[in-house]
Amino acid sequence: MTEMNEEAIRLITGRKSIRKYDEAQKISRDEMTRMLEEACRAPSALNLQPWRFLVIQSHEGKEKLKPLFYNNPLLLDSCSAMIAVLGDFAASDYKDQIYDKAVTGGTMSKEERDKEVRLISDLYDGMPHDEQLTDVSFNSALAAMQLMLVARAHGYETCPLGGFDKKRFSEVFDYDRSRYLPLVLIAIGKPAEEGFDTVRLGVDEITKWI
Ligand SMILES: Cc1cc2nc3c(=O)[nH]c(=O)nc-3n(C[C@H](O)[C@H](O)[C@H](O)COP(=O)(O)O)c2cc1C
Repeated sequence: MTEMNEEAIRLITGRKSIRKYDEAQKISRDEMTRMLEEACRAPSALNLQPWRFLVIQSHEGKEKLKPLFYNNPLLLDSCSAMIAVLGDFAASDYKDQIYDKAVTGGTMSKEERDKEVRLISDLYDGMPHDEQLTDVSFNSALAAMQLMLVARAHGYETCPLGGFDKKRFSEVFDYDRSRYLPLVLIAIGKPAEEGFDTVRLGVDEITKWI
């Protein structure tokens, strides 16, 4: 076996969903921005980065979320922030912006940029909705997972939460539902509990080798 970074493995495998946080703990805008930037290093198909975030930190924001939150309100009240991860069905509209930045940054030639942008148009223009749904959900979930791991590296814990009224979320927080898909909420903060030890299926139960 090759040399391993045991600390990194512990950071990744030691994550547990935490449902009670230290209420006094605040996360600065700078640190939150840095964690989001680090989460955005996640991979995405054609580098389209369809993830979008809403950081709910204020008392008013949490109160707006509360009526559509199906989990224990203590979780919402105690976390430093609740980060909503949404998928953007119009992510391919950013193709020029993304690939122009690569040209300006010197990591891509103009010809390569034009080829990628054409490919994106070919693939995404007129893509059936079910394919778009899979694409946006899958890619955005990668950033959500990365955010939870990055949070641990910053000394915080998290809990992913699907238990909220997604339709009402769009209305209350003013997101066009035909464009933005609310996927998951991620609670973040300093833990005020240990978290459960959860079990996993064995690799032999879920894996085929050929
Ligand atoms: C997409 C998603 C939605 C989840 N929704 C909830 C939820 O609404 N409430 C909750 O208490 N936990 C929720 N969880 C957390 C899971 O229960 C938890 O990840 C699982 O039991 C494994 O535990 P662990 O995260 O501590 O390893 C969710 C997890 C994911 C990935």
